[in-house]
Amino acid sequence: MSNPIYLALDLPRLDAAEALARKVKGHIGGLKLGLEFFCAHGHHGVHEIHKLGLPIFLDLKLHDIPNTVAAAMQAIHVLEPAIVTVHAAGGRAMMEDAKAAAGEHCKVVAVTVLTSLDENDLARTGIAGNPHDLALRLAELAQEARLDGIVCSGHEVAAVHKQWKDGYFVVPGLRPANGKAHSALGDQKRTVTPREARDAGASVLVIGRPISRADDPAAAARAIEATL
Ligand code: C5P
Repeated sequence: MSNPIYLALDLPRLDAAEALARKVKGHIGGLKLGLEFFCAHGHHGVHEIHKLGLPIFLDLKLHDIPNTVAAAMQAIHVLEPAIVTVHAAGGRAMMEDAKAAAGEHCKVVAVTVLTSLDENDLARTGIAGNPHDLALRLAELAQEARLDGIVCSGHEVAAVHKQWKDGYFVVPGLRPANGKAHSALGDQKRTVTPREARDAGASVLVIGRPISRADDPAAAARAIEATL
């Protein structure tokens, strides 16, 4: 079984991101680069990180008309990402075109509802209902569009796995059972451990601060790997 841990490289400086990735690369399965990294460092930054030899997850959360998203997918083709995210709210045609434009070995996964939005926020955008039900509806739409899977929380992954048996599930917002990480990084109230998420059906475990902000990132990554 390959290592499912993707380290979120959410650091503003390219040299710091490279240094961190180099320290932990023996204990993770891949690296996640988000919108801030891509806007700051572009293709050059991704090429530099690629040199470390790990699969790259480009978390760009693409959301536009189908033609534009397909063109963006083609433009990042040369970077050979292993995983790319799009917003399910972009609709079925957009997701289908994104998948069609992606490389053969690239998983395209949909973000359903951002965890920063609650029911009131959704109502203000004209969407009735709660975020959980909306997330399940959008997961169904992603499946119909033949995407590879979705991004979901550790609490949702078991339910989604049930309705999408061969789906590819990317799970962020994880916290190791270790109490120090919990108290130091307490902006997440109901957390799931990497092992619990894995057991519930997660394909990829996205982990950032529990590794990047640890005194010894390599030891933190190794300890999480050992729990899986
Ligand atoms: O919290 P942590 O530093 O482990 O977050 C790792 C990555 O997961 C970050 O890039 C963050 O943007 C992403 N994340 C997410 N949804 C959440 C929590 C974190 O996409 N609910």
